Amino acid sequence: MNAVEPSPAADWLEHAVFYEIYPQSFRDSNGDGIGDLHGIIEKLPYLHSLGVTGLWINPCFESPFRDAGYDISDFYRVAPRYGTNEDLRTLFAEARKLGIRVMLDLVAGHTSDQHPWFRESQRHERNRYTDWYIWTDSVWTWSAPNQQVVVGAAERDANYIPNFFYFQPALNYGYAQPDPKAPWQQAVDAPGPRAVREELKKIMRFWFDLGASGFRVDMAGSLVKNDPDGRATAALWHDFRTWMHREYPDRAMVSEWSQPQVAIPAGFHMDFLLPFSKPGYKSLFRPTAPGATAYFDPSGLGDIRQFLDEFEPLYAATKGQGFIAIPTGNHDTVPRLGDGKDPRELAVVYAFLLTMPGVPFIYYGDEIGMRSVAGLPSKEGGFGRTGARMPMQWDASPDAGFSTAPAGRLYLPIDSAADRPTVAAQEMDPHSTLNTVRTLIALRQAHPALQASGAFAEVVARSGEALFVYERASRGERIMVAVNPAARPCEARLPATVEFSEARQLAGEAGAFQCDAQGWTVQLPAVSYAVVEIE
Ligand code: GLC
Ligand code: CA
Repeated sequence: MNAVEPSPAADWLEHAVFYEIYPQSFRDSNGDGIGDLHGIIEKLPYLHSLGVTGLWINPCFESPFRDAGYDISDFYRVAPRYGTNEDLRTLFAEARKLGIRVMLDLVAGHTSDQHPWFRESQRHERNRYTDWYIWTDSVWTWSAPNQQVVVGAAERDANYIPNFFYFQPALNYGYAQPDPKAPWQQAVDAPGPRAVREELKKIMRFWFDLGASGFRVDMAGSLVKNDPDGRATAALWHDFRTWMHREYPDRAMVSEWSQPQVAIPAGFHMDFLLPFSKPGYKSLFRPTAPGATAYFDPSGLGDIRQFLDEFEPLYAATKGQGFIAIPTGNHDTVPRLGDGKDPRELAVVYAFLLTMPGVPFIYYGDEIGMRSVAGLPSKEGGFGRTGARMPMQWDASPDAGFSTAPAGRLYLPIDSAADRPTVAAQEMDPHSTLNTVRTLIALRQAHPALQASGAFAEVVARSGEALFVYERASRGERIMVAVNPAARPCEARLPATVEFSEARQLAGEAGAFQCDAQGWTVQLPAVSYAVVEIE
């Protein structure tokens, strides 16, 4: 694979801050209890005031909604519950007037089992779609190594491989190493896989032509099967990037892969760090190992090295080629960032997230510290994820400004907590999480050093110490960031190798950086941060 060519998309990504919208829960404009595209259009001024310059909208296409829309039955049509293709075109255009680009969700790996392609593929007679999905050679082939198999579901004398839930049959992109003992496993260049790739390109072209600025690619690493190092899947995406570079050079793609060292050389402009692969990202906010403490925990018992030891090699491997995206969370992650955190604690988290290299993504509601709700019955295949998909809390009205439908008709109930955070209340409070996020986004956008490709270097980052200090730099501008998530003051002497003679405060605690005869020290009170420009 050749190195990916730099693209003009990199220009707008450089200062981009993204916001993920779960469309069914954001804003219901017509009172039917479910969020919709006009609801998003209504809220564009709010998003603009927040300072975000990119949106990612979860799948909004026709679907039986058994996995909240990640089970698509028509890739070319907006689901009627959200509006029409024309509404989406309007959203693209209106957003763009405010400098906001919109990305859609590309569910490349599978369809709904209700998709007409799959219905045809299930038939006994050979047809155009026979090889569009992965079928075993006979209904009596009950299992395949390392793969799920759905048995006896079709008229066809064969079983299919699902990609996620059983009703999400995997599209056939072939096998990197087809098993000679299982001839039903096709090569990546067999006619079926080739046709599926062409169709995927057609889908992308369709939405690019309507005005989409790019895609978040669902399960991007899942396409080619038996592809242990991801090489064949990476080669596929590399072809797509080469095509985009030629025909749609200003559009961008972000992958749900969480392997930036694979995804970015393959051609993705950005790749998410996510909880499902290694522990580094989880260790920031949601550690799962028994007895583990998050780095952003006021006990100060967390360890920033758990994150950095994983992040640094990924950053080094992708620097100059693409960006690592660190999200506040997403529609799959519980708890939400705001769970159990007060506005001061959240301010420290955002000071970090919005001054790191790469491209930040804010999950809707996280900008007000919205909390997840436990114990709800599963909605549309959400299961344990349902509580992180609640209606956005705009104001103090009964439906929280999300809708005007009677409570019983809402997509999901409103968080019943009396102290649930709302946009309206936080607008009034200069120290609210909302206003802190706004200030920090504006700071990022005013300083190239803080943007996507500004250099990043650790300054103080040791196990057993809560204080984390790092430097960002670009074109002669140097900025130092210090965060202290612990509920006690912290202090550290900066290494003598970091040279500067002045520290001008940009955000957070004043006077945190002090110089004496031995050099610079940083002192931060409990749960606080400081951002300074140095010279
Ligand atoms: C991704 C989505 C998730 C969905 C799954 C199957 O992980 O983020 O919500 O259920 O893919 O498409
Ligand atoms: Ca609606």
